[in-house]
Amino acid sequence: MPPPSLRRILVSGATGKQGGALIASLLSHSTPTFEIYALTRNPKSRSAQALSSKPNVKVIQGDFSNPSAIFAQIPKPWGFFSVTNPINVAREEAQGKAMTAAALAAGVQHIVFTATDRGINSDEDATVIPHFASKFRIERDIIAKSRETGATYTFLRPVAFYENLTDDFLGKGFVSVWRINGDESRIKFVSTKDIGKVAAEAFLKAGEERYKNKAVALAGDDVSLKEFQQIFEEETGKKLPETFGVVGKGLRWALHEQLGIMFTWFTTDGFGVDVRENKKQYPFLKDFREWLRTESAWRKE
Ligand SMILES: NC(=O)c1ccc[n+]([C@@H]2O[C@H](COP(=O)([O-])OP(=O)(O)OC[C@H]3O[C@@H](n4cnc5c(N)ncnc54)[C@H](OP(=O)(O)O)[C@@H]3O)[C@@H](O)[C@H]2O)c1
Repeated sequence: MPPPSLRRILVSGATGKQGGALIASLLSHSTPTFEIYALTRNPKSRSAQALSSKPNVKVIQGDFSNPSAIFAQIPKPWGFFSVTNPINVAREEAQGKAMTAAALAAGVQHIVFTATDRGINSDEDATVIPHFASKFRIERDIIAKSRETGATYTFLRPVAFYENLTDDFLGKGFVSVWRINGDESRIKFVSTKDIGKVAAEAFLKAGEERYKNKAVALAGDDVSLKEFQQIFEEETGKKLPETFGVVGKGLRWALHEQLGIMFTWFTTDGFGVDVRENKKQYPFLKDFREWLRTESAWRKE
């Protein structure tokens, strides 16, 4: 049994990038503050198995489709890290809201929900992008429901993840879709490890002004495709992963709802967070070059 002082938090997306980074960040603190309940649909997966050997981490099985069965496994949960699955946006919204309701019904006192930056008016603008708008509505629902119970919340609003750049079809597709916007078109990026650090702070300092019922946008760099390519080639000595323009066009058309609308929005609106101001608050936020050097698959050990 953990010491009674350890607060229990449910981390969804624990086997994924943001939830995994949150857990790694919490475990890097010398004094444990939380007993971490790491959610997965498959406790036998390699990433779930790796988590189960960590101190103060309990892997639990569950699915967003049955939130009460998840919280039934956690005695007196204090916190909830909410990550949603945007494959089907109507389902994302319904499951995100149902997870909030179950968390609050179970007595959760602080929710950290990771959404997205939505431009210069993130608080009010749902945007035209379906998987941004679903997160906007989940935020609104958290604000309303937490008022009823007196719980608090922090919204994280990261920009695009550097981790979208992979040396496979998905990563090459990402660059090819971006290329259609032109070499001078810009996107803001952040490292998911850095999101995890801020998520950890949002739990550790939940009562502080900066996090209590606040939204925190996160970005480590603002680069044009031309700069992105140049930095990649300088750092790795390799060509930027990319596929044929026709594939990029096909992807943008076939995945209009998931990708096409968002890449058009990058040219009409774009992420709103001010990278320089953001780094004053979080100096550890990595730029693209630093991410390549220290965290990417191209880093030199
Ligand atoms: N890519 C970007 O640039 C970007 C930028 C901003 C925001 N986002 C948002 O980030 C979110 C994804 O976060 P991520 O990249 O950290 O995740 P990820 O690495 O893709 O991992 C997905 C996680 O969600 C869990 N999961 C999925 N469906 C589930 C279900 N039905 N029940 C329980 N768990 C489920 C998976 O757990 P198991 O497989 O172990 O069950 C896994 O841990 C999305 O909402 C996306 O829109 C992405």
